[in-house]
Amino acid sequence: MSRSSRLIQEGQASFRVDGAFYRAKSAIARDLAILAAAVYRQRRGQLRVLDAMTGCGVRPLRYVLEAGADWVWANEGNPDQAELLAQNLAVLPPDTYRITHQDAHQVFFSCYQDRDFYDLVDIDNFGGPAPFASTGLWATRLGGLLYLTNTDGRSTSGHDLGRSLQVYGAGVRSHPAVHEQGLRLLLGHGAQIAAARRLGLEPVFSLFTGQVHRVMVRLVRKPTLTPKNYGFLAYCHSCGHFQTVGWGKLSRVTCPCQTQSQAAPTVVLSGPLWLGPLHDPETLKAMASLADTWDWPSQANLLRVMQQEATLPPYYYPLGDIGRRGQMDIPNRDRLMAALQAHGHQAAPTHCDRQAIKTDAPWADCLAVAKALGKGRG
Ligand SMILES: C[S@@+](CC[C@H](N)C(=O)[O-])C[C@H]1O[C@@H](n2cnc3c(N)ncnc32)[C@H](O)[C@@H]1O
Ligand SMILES: [Zn+2]
Repeated sequence: MSRSSRLIQEGQASFRVDGAFYRAKSAIARDLAILAAAVYRQRRGQLRVLDAMTGCGVRPLRYVLEAGADWVWANEGNPDQAELLAQNLAVLPPDTYRITHQDAHQVFFSCYQDRDFYDLVDIDNFGGPAPFASTGLWATRLGGLLYLTNTDGRSTSGHDLGRSLQVYGAGVRSHPAVHEQGLRLLLGHGAQIAAARRLGLEPVFSLFTGQVHRVMVRLVRKPTLTPKNYGFLAYCHSCGHFQTVGWGKLSRVTCPCQTQSQAAPTVVLSGPLWLGPLHDPETLKAMASLADTWDWPSQANLLRVMQQEATLPPYYYPLGDIGRRGQMDIPNRDRLMAALQAHGHQAAPTHCDRQAIKTDAPWADCLAVAKALGKGRG
């Protein structure tokens, strides 16, 4: 949090922060939301945004000035920010916004009551997504977007089993791909609460910023959750192998390393969580091309990494683990991906960890390819 009365510039927005919440480091989460909103506006011909926890109002400014929003409702629960927010948003045309100071749940339910549904509902909460994801659905129009947040790393990284059960109804364990696990818990949570209301959520993009997990999802009429895309992730602490586990196999989880060793492998299970695509590649493509047009090279690069990882298996292998378990130098990421592809596997970087790769190659094959590469035979 920063306290400052100087003018801050982010994108096309100029604003003051004073005592309100603002993290310059979260700009990338705002940039991607603006791109997704602008693509939505191009496709649907309208964009009405509900920013449920607006802080100093940087998002409403950017949604109107950059994404071309026709209307933004800026809500901030803390009434002490009223004057600051009014001053910051005063640059917008008066008929494009509204400011309120209510509890977010109250806002969502009043939208439902008034049949006033939004094209994009942005919920930038502290902590886990519950219960805001559930109530935010009441304010989102069918086909519209919902932007969910988790800032509680402990509940998604396997360090607080009780909390992950309470928030996500999921038993979560620690392993090397926990950053992606956080995104998949958020997607699974959203898909499950939507399905309970006979609705569906489709991922648009999923973003891990280093501390915060954010997912932009599209609300659709039919439930998207199935036993196939909502299941379990198994990790073997003995050898490093990941695998997905369906509901019918829960009592029979083994690891390929079992045949090579007398000792039973230590396999841990996380879930249920979302096992389907992490992003919608079509929308990412449109967002990346808009980022090019706007001369946003780092955002365009990130979106292209996301495009590559969108449909790969729901985990990644850190290069450090490959080196350590293979008792060799840490392999070069791009050379390892090229070698895996030459062996007929899919391989891509992951935006969650620059020092890791995603691949459909089983762990043992990945290790063998990395070893051969180390010996100059890759
Ligand atoms: C993470 S900050 C928002 C930051 C802002 N969206 C941005 O991008 O800079 C969360 C904000 O939500 C407000 N807030 C917390 N709980 C709320 C609730 N239940 N209803 C409405 N606002 C709430 C807090 O006062 C805080 O300003
Ligand atoms: Zn194993």
